[in-house]
Amino acid sequence: MAAPAQNTIRERALARGIDLDRLPKHVAIIMDGNGRFAQKQGLMRLWGHRQGYRTLKDVLLSAANLGVEFLTVYAFSAENWRRPEEEVGGLMTLIEEAARHELRGLTENNVRAQVIGRIHEVPSTLRNALEEMTSSTSHNTGITFTLAINYGGRAEIVDAVRSLIEEGVSAESINEEMISERMYAPSLPDPDLMIRTAGELRWSNYLIWQSAYTELFVTDTTWPEFGEEELLAGIAQYQKRTRKFGGLA
Ligand code: IPE
Ligand code: IPE
Ligand code: MG
Repeated sequence: MAAPAQNTIRERALARGIDLDRLPKHVAIIMDGNGRFAQKQGLMRLWGHRQGYRTLKDVLLSAANLGVEFLTVYAFSAENWRRPEEEVGGLMTLIEEAARHELRGLTENNVRAQVIGRIHEVPSTLRNALEEMTSSTSHNTGITFTLAINYGGRAEIVDAVRSLIEEGVSAESINEEMISERMYAPSLPDPDLMIRTAGELRWSNYLIWQSAYTELFVTDTTWPEFGEEELLAGIAQYQKRTRKFGGLA
């Protein structure tokens, strides 16, 4: 007898009761716990970040195959410069390597990649790699994958206010829509589901403007240990929530 065909992630999602017509359109992730994962095994923090990169590849493919339209991940915060120089340098190198190495794979999977954050402040070799990744995937039509690098939600709001002032917009005419339009990636819809790994119950300055009504799913699993199963668990929990946006159910 022939071996049964391998189920797809959409079939596995259906099997655990997920409604494929009500998937979160935009999933944002705070990929936390790389350091703790490494320390648990007595290894260097940078080793943990490398394992986190592997998880990211898997989760991006899972989200794309499932049918999520937008995935936005926190790779380096505007506050992460406070870490030891060695870790900061190691992270910059890792992100640059990843951006260069994954170019072909991103296009093979029809992924449109882009970056949010104060990218002019990162080392120029990393900036070049990110620009190449963005331009060479810009015509892809599958999942939109956004990497937040040197990203801070408050900095993003400050930058939006600066552009409004530079444009000479009058104080009375400013509204929420105009601020949303001046975020780093204005075509991204607000996240529907925010996943944070490694258990901390905080936002750490991530997408704070956009997440006003985002549903939060926190797991104690560290990022390198995270995978499809928990992604589906987060989505299943999301589908049980009643979103009210201040109104009544
Ligand atoms: C998240 O893992 C990745 C980055 C911040 C770059 P951490 O490095 O914050 O891991 P923990 O929180 O120390 O375990
Ligand atoms: C948030 O994690 C930033 C990233 C995942 C890139 P942190 O580890 O920097 O957050 P805090 O310091 O615990 O709030
Ligand atoms: Mg952390």
